[in-house]
Amino acid sequence: MFVLVGVTGGIAAYKTVHLVRALVLDGHEVHVIPTEDALRFVGRPTWEAISRHPVTTSVHDDVAQVRHVALGQQADLIVVAPATANFLAKFAAGLADDLLGTSLLATTAPVVVAPAMHTEMWRHPATTQNVEVLRARGVHVIGPDSGALTGGDVGPGRMSEPDAIHAYVAGLLAGEDPEGTRAKSLDGVRVLVTAGGTREPIDPVRYIGNRSSGKQGIAVATAAADRGAEVTVVLAHVDSDVLREASAHRSITLERAGTAAELGDAVARLAPSADVIVMAAAVADYRVEDASETKISKDSTDGALHLTLVETADVLAATTAARRTGQTIVGFAAETEPDPDIRIERARRKRERKGVDILALNEVGWTKGFESTDNTLSLIGADGAVLATVSGTKRETAEALWDAVLAVRGT
Ligand code: CTP
Repeated sequence: MFVLVGVTGGIAAYKTVHLVRALVLDGHEVHVIPTEDALRFVGRPTWEAISRHPVTTSVHDDVAQVRHVALGQQADLIVVAPATANFLAKFAAGLADDLLGTSLLATTAPVVVAPAMHTEMWRHPATTQNVEVLRARGVHVIGPDSGALTGGDVGPGRMSEPDAIHAYVAGLLAGEDPEGTRAKSLDGVRVLVTAGGTREPIDPVRYIGNRSSGKQGIAVATAAADRGAEVTVVLAHVDSDVLREASAHRSITLERAGTAAELGDAVARLAPSADVIVMAAAVADYRVEDASETKISKDSTDGALHLTLVETADVLAATTAARRTGQTIVGFAAETEPDPDIRIERARRKRERKGVDILALNEVGWTKGFESTDNTLSLIGADGAVLATVSGTKRETAEALWDAVLAVRGT
């Protein structure tokens, strides 16, 4: 097969040497197309020696062979590793100011990108949107992994290991579509997701809230939508970048709910027409009994403010009590219990109490679970068995959750 390996300007370029070598050893004809910046990390002689073909970055070399489009036209697959934030932006915009850019526009072959950058750059809304654009165009995105980054910081942004990229690419070249079956696995399924944290008013100015950013719930919703589901999200308070991501997805309908009661009303109305319900929202367990109509002033409180908190209605328990045949219901449990055995046992009991098919157990704490991009979920099934324990980006844990839902539904 004719494989193009694009290399853009990141330190992970040195790892791509191993990827090229593995592809050559598989017997493929491999051509490397670095960007000018990539050559500052790994030089032309290395790429030429390892790929056994001449290497150029420019559209002005070898013009007689119309090389700027010929490579892309011939390619059976293009993999870009590492893919920098700058490259992803250029590719999303369709810019073609070098040989890699023209080759990518000239190809109809599968394209795989392996992002590598610092965590802040990966999380920037510009990068998030560019990646969404590329995914929507059918570009395969592998990684990034979480781990040590250049400069000593740790987080998501590390390029996937060359072996993992190689396995992924080899699968595609062998005719497997790693996302193909996934992409259609929820076709026509109606999904209702709740996300974010509710806010219970104390007075018109103040509220009691929680630290949920909505990231995990929105990752669950976008993963379902990308698998072909019709998704409605009942959205409590979420971070602004999370809201932007959810609003950008064309198969997601958003409905806002501020308080536990509003969320309960929305779910009661929408649940009957859903096939799968995922209650990822952090719903307040208590609300202020008598929220004040006017701002509470210190003049009236005499040194201390006493609020009476009363339990809110359990939306999830009400939803499972009213469930119709064929509905699959997933609950979440955020637990701070440090002992994993006790934590799982608590989650088992909670699953039974709430009557859900799957309970996604999320270990949280002062520095764990909230606001972060990564998460660990243990998925507890109907008989109390741990179906899977997954760590990774919230998108990756969301994919595992959908795999488990499909297994439970027997589809
Ligand atoms: N939940 C809900 N309505 C509430 C509170 C929680 O629907 N009023 C849902 C959450 O969306 C989540 C699940 O119930 O899916 C678990 O929430 P959690 O607060 O952990 O459950 P509790 O029964 O309140 O258990 P605990 O006593 O541990 O707080």
